[in-house]
Amino acid sequence: MSYRAETESPSHPGVLRRYGDRIPDVGSNTPLISLGEGDTPLVHSRRLHERVGCRELYFKLEMCNPTGSFKDRGMVVAVAKALESESKAVLCASTGNTSASAAAYAARCGLDAYVLVPHGNIAQGKLAQAVAHGARILDVQGNFDDALRLARLICEQHPVALVNSVNPYRLEGQKTAAFEIVDSIGDAPDLLFIPIGNAGNITAYWRGFVEYYRAEIATKKPRMMGWQAEGAAPIVEGKSVADPQSVASAIRIGNPASWRLAEAARDESSGEIKSVSDDEILEAYRLLAREEGIFCEPASAACVAGLLKYARQPVGPSGGRSLAESTIVCVITGHGLKDPETALGIESEIREVEPRIEAIEQAMGL
Ligand code: F0G
Repeated sequence: MSYRAETESPSHPGVLRRYGDRIPDVGSNTPLISLGEGDTPLVHSRRLHERVGCRELYFKLEMCNPTGSFKDRGMVVAVAKALESESKAVLCASTGNTSASAAAYAARCGLDAYVLVPHGNIAQGKLAQAVAHGARILDVQGNFDDALRLARLICEQHPVALVNSVNPYRLEGQKTAAFEIVDSIGDAPDLLFIPIGNAGNITAYWRGFVEYYRAEIATKKPRMMGWQAEGAAPIVEGKSVADPQSVASAIRIGNPASWRLAEAARDESSGEIKSVSDDEILEAYRLLAREEGIFCEPASAACVAGLLKYARQPVGPSGGRSLAESTIVCVITGHGLKDPETALGIESEIREVEPRIEAIEQAMGL
């Protein structure tokens, strides 16, 4: 398959061209593929920051990546390395976004993609993406943790590249979002709020912030504030969850692969990993859509739910900097269009009207 790195994405250089020199093992033999991932918007909060009472609140819109989630940053590196090592196929287990991303990059590069998805637990939009890109979808009669265990076994025994976040290149690509945040605001934020599922992304961000701090590009590192869904909160509870449940299907994970690394990120940063209920997630999901114009998927709203919860707590003696002095970033990991069932299920405001101007005027209250 031929490609020209300099024209893969003329408008957006992509993660490999922009940050390849900060990613180990990206060398002259690595194909600099791209779908224009990364370089996502960092937008100011217009309304929610008042509820939080912080100095600055930003949303990092990772939903603006080519397949609508943060996964593309790591997937581009994992697929480039799979190509470099002449793999013919990639495989992942996924709650949906990893599979959408793997399917897209594999399609672009002429690789076969196989995805193991937990039965009945994947949002329609994500499934549609994997189907559209021609991935071979295997609906595993089990949960995500079962699917990941099987994916690892298959890749140990067959020449297929595993592109879950246990593939080290995934986290290396994902850490570039932390670089972008520092590059955009001139330093690291004080607090980073992020949802946790398989715990790869919190690990990747922490690595990125530490590397920029060591390189003296940032003068500080953020406290890492990770949020699990209450029915799928193994790290919070200190034990794996056999039957994880949440409206946020992306983070319905009972035994995260990067569990220990996430705990290390929390502890090294004096951060916290806590949980939010489905009601809190849906309330934040609604507020983001209605007060900020940001339509994300429920898993992404979990970190905003966490921020609202955190802001309601009284500041204890060891509370560190008060929120009023803090710059905060929430990572908006995936697009709301991926999960239309949740959006329409909440409170559908669709009203039937007759095709007459008077009926429409009346319905509009004019
Ligand atoms: N937000 C979204 C939208 C996700 O899709 C995921 C994970 C997370 C947050 C959590 O990130 O796993 O690095 O802690 N989705 C994976 C998948 C598991 O298969 O798409 P994490």
